Amino acid sequence: MKVTLKSTAGRSAVRVVPVFSDGGGAKKASGLDPALAAVVRKADSTGIFSGKKGEVLPQVAPDSAVEKTLFLIGLGPRKKLDGEVLRTVFGNLGRRLAGLSGKKAALSLEQGAAAACIGKLGAAQAARCMLEGCRLGAYDYQAQKGGRKPRKPASSLALECGDSDASLLKDLRSGLKLADACVDGVNLARELANTPGNYLYPASLAAKARSMARSSGLKCKVLGERDLQREKMGCILGVAQGSNRAPRLIQLEYTPRGKAEKTLVIVGKAVTFDSGGISIKPAGGMQDMKFDMAGGAAAIGAMQALARLKPKLRVVAIVPSAENLLGGSAYRPGDVLTSASGKTIEIINTDAEGRLLLADALHYSRRFKPDAVVDMATLTGACVIALGTHASGLMSNDKALARQLLKVSANCGERIWELPLFDEYYKMVESKVADVRNSSGRDAGASTAGAFLGHFIKGVPWAHLDIAGTAWRQAPLGYQPRGATGAGVRLMVELALSMGA
Ligand code: BES
Ligand code: MN
Ligand code: ZN
Repeated sequence: MKVTLKSTAGRSAVRVVPVFSDGGGAKKASGLDPALAAVVRKADSTGIFSGKKGEVLPQVAPDSAVEKTLFLIGLGPRKKLDGEVLRTVFGNLGRRLAGLSGKKAALSLEQGAAAACIGKLGAAQAARCMLEGCRLGAYDYQAQKGGRKPRKPASSLALECGDSDASLLKDLRSGLKLADACVDGVNLARELANTPGNYLYPASLAAKARSMARSSGLKCKVLGERDLQREKMGCILGVAQGSNRAPRLIQLEYTPRGKAEKTLVIVGKAVTFDSGGISIKPAGGMQDMKFDMAGGAAAIGAMQALARLKPKLRVVAIVPSAENLLGGSAYRPGDVLTSASGKTIEIINTDAEGRLLLADALHYSRRFKPDAVVDMATLTGACVIALGTHASGLMSNDKALARQLLKVSANCGERIWELPLFDEYYKMVESKVADVRNSSGRDAGASTAGAFLGHFIKGVPWAHLDIAGTAWRQAPLGYQPRGATGAGVRLMVELALSMGA
């Protein structure tokens, strides 16, 4: 799906007409060209379309209208319009247009409700949200569908801006550029996280990261098993022991032209399949645990976007990757692992493997002298119990960093919600036989996992995002498809841009 800017209003196969739900037909049709206004009034009076948020009504237009096919799309009430409403509405539209395969659609930004959206949100933000919604909603994972069906040709949406003045055009263009980079990053993260575990394992993930880095102009370094031994990364090596697939630690680096004042490190958990290990998971739903590398995928997707957007700070992504299986040499409950930091860890549950990978990776991140470290991980079922699929959990040892993340979260529409890291939680993960233990039972499961990580990144401003609930959807919703959502990509892009605009 492509979304482009076009100055002239030519004919397309489909005309898209956004409509608010307020008032009767006349109000809904206000500001539209007469032929379109007549269609909207009629749809309203016959009760088949009210402009409710997310509604999409395909219509065969009367001869007098601009195009043969019209898509009326509901924006909901004018007062409630914000960026996230636009993304959601255009997400539904994007999915419908993608289904039409190869159709060209057009929408006038100069008329009716579309013009009102620009008035309320500003041109850059309105264009950004329309594009993000449309392209993110159109995504569908197809890689293993085989040669039987030919790939559907992509549909497109042209945003018609007439001969708007130069500053408006500039805003529209900058909004679309930001959005395109974000969407490509999100869709890369989705593609990686949807890929089955037999195709995507630590070495193949590293190869994909390397090829992305090459084409994006990023530095890439991959630590293999030997390197991990040299770095004394006993946790990553410990988790990987039960699998024939060797672990990796992937490092991507973006450096701006000129002097970088700040450094942001993004750490992403990449367990390419999580069976639970010897503390094995129940069979029901286990197939979805191929997405347990979504944090790492989001870090890689964000780096691709940042390479295009070129913020003025250094950004490093660290992605520790392993497969959690239960082969004959698997690590066991009761084992004690020594992390790269020297701290020892008592293994209570081999299914609490993500925090082990992150312990080594967070320690490793210190060498970049970061101003902030943010990790993303599908870390706990407890976070899904607490927040469901509608927000990622945020935990931090630094008030300013947490505040900054909450602020950028509102801009980019990725919801996060803060959970506490009380001193008591740090205590709860201390061990009788080692320095810490990797599980302390069910109580406050998201926060004790966060506190475990906090033991390995003391003295550095750090935030942890538990994306266990937000990185995967069982059914599509708005601009999120079924399967991997790419959660975390837009948030990291927005954070990096806010630190080095
Ligand atoms: N990858 C899982 C967490 C998860 C669960 C992600 C459900 C997405 C959906 C993680 O490795 C895990 O198994 N965590 C355990 C921790 C427990 C053993 C302390 C959990 O949440 O049950
Ligand atoms: Mn697990
Ligand atoms: Zn896991």
